[in-house]
Amino acid sequence: MTMDKFLVPAVAKPLDGEVEIAGAKNAVLAIMPAALLADGISEISNVPHLKDMKTMSDVLRIIGCRIDGENHKLRIDTRGANHLEAPYELVKTMRASFYVLGPLVARFGRCRVSLPGGCAWGPRPIDLHLKGLEALGAKINITHGYVEATCEGRLKGGTFHFPISSVGATVNLLLAATLAEGESILQNAAIEPEIDNLVDYLISMGAKIQGRGTRTLIIQGVESLTPGKGETIADRIEAGTFLCGAVITRGRVKVTHMVPEHIMSVLNVFKEIGCDVAIGDSWVEVDARNKSLKPISVTTLPYPGFPTDLQAPLMATLASIEGNSLIQDTIYHDRFTHIAELKRLGADIQLNGNTATIIGGKSLEGADVMASDLRASAALVLSGLIAEGETTISRIYHLDRGYEDFEAKMAKLGATVSRIRPELA
Ligand code: EPZ
Repeated sequence: MTMDKFLVPAVAKPLDGEVEIAGAKNAVLAIMPAALLADGISEISNVPHLKDMKTMSDVLRIIGCRIDGENHKLRIDTRGANHLEAPYELVKTMRASFYVLGPLVARFGRCRVSLPGGCAWGPRPIDLHLKGLEALGAKINITHGYVEATCEGRLKGGTFHFPISSVGATVNLLLAATLAEGESILQNAAIEPEIDNLVDYLISMGAKIQGRGTRTLIIQGVESLTPGKGETIADRIEAGTFLCGAVITRGRVKVTHMVPEHIMSVLNVFKEIGCDVAIGDSWVEVDARNKSLKPISVTTLPYPGFPTDLQAPLMATLASIEGNSLIQDTIYHDRFTHIAELKRLGADIQLNGNTATIIGGKSLEGADVMASDLRASAALVLSGLIAEGETTISRIYHLDRGYEDFEAKMAKLGATVSRIRPELA
């Protein structure tokens, strides 16, 4: 519900427990549009129950697909796909809807997709998506806020060098190149784990892709693909968020059903801060109990560097550690809307350009705050756990986009985060 709020009392004691990590939202958002490349029923497993999955399903349904699923499985039937358009009403709520552009123009030779617009922290350009598709022979026309992409016959294999690492543009081009005529080479492609997950899924559909896990992807286009079947990787950002909870409350959290190597940069930060970090084959435990933690400087970078999506949760965490810490976000220079809200709770943070200085150790007091985006909402919950008194967080529909069963998982760790519905309040 859009008016739902979270009530976050200060935790009575440090978090202590174990949570199972769900499938990765950003992997599913790339894999669902891949189904459009084939005629038939594609299946995806380990899909998290999140609002963004529903939004992407709505986009695919408007295109004419039928979608059903149960217990974390999705089935996407594309045999009715004939309305080659993604409307503004949906694309504006979730930019990943833009991922249907590549597969639609590759398979059907034309489509009309709304420009995604900006987000809470500023403009989010899509120039690389469009330049890349033009390198594959697509004709791009932008009119009335929509991108119209067409091509004569099939797309033509081509080479595209990404001037900067872009997850979304890599997804769109990878999807399109699988059906292009001839060979495509994507240089300086993103290497986030979600891209590998997509590559594996496309190969399950019959795509011919070399260079998995490297910044050079070589795709031999094929005439047609068959429906896919594959499993979503665990959500590394959800895992990192709950582990931040261990650090900020000086507790101990174990995250399971995940891939430790996907968050090595985050684990190194926790070690540098002074936590004990234990790593298993599919679990990680961070122990911050009775530790004297140190301030640090962190810079966000493309994978395998520290992820920008954990910048806000880490900022809340560093605000609890005595001393001056620094966080520089090199991916999104203005992804700092959460600073104003953290300051309402008493945090002392100064922003200079894209670098935040956190004067940590100030005691926090509960207050009414507002979530501005998905990861900022998680940061506010984390700070609420240690703020004296109650913190009320509004607009937590942002949080529901990316964290499955959040309250239940927090309860398992010993925190009573409760959802209040205004009409019931
Ligand atoms: C993906 O967004 C994620 N979203 C984001 O997670 C994540 O923060 C981001 O990658 C960076 O890791 C999904 O996967 C659905 P980019 P995306 O293209 O693809 C610039 C979340 O919380 N750029 O890798 O949009 C861009 O402005 C979300 O789950 C261009 O200049 O990010 C940014 O500075 C938030 N032109 C940089 O590249 C383009 O055409 C990296 O952006 C595209 C991007």
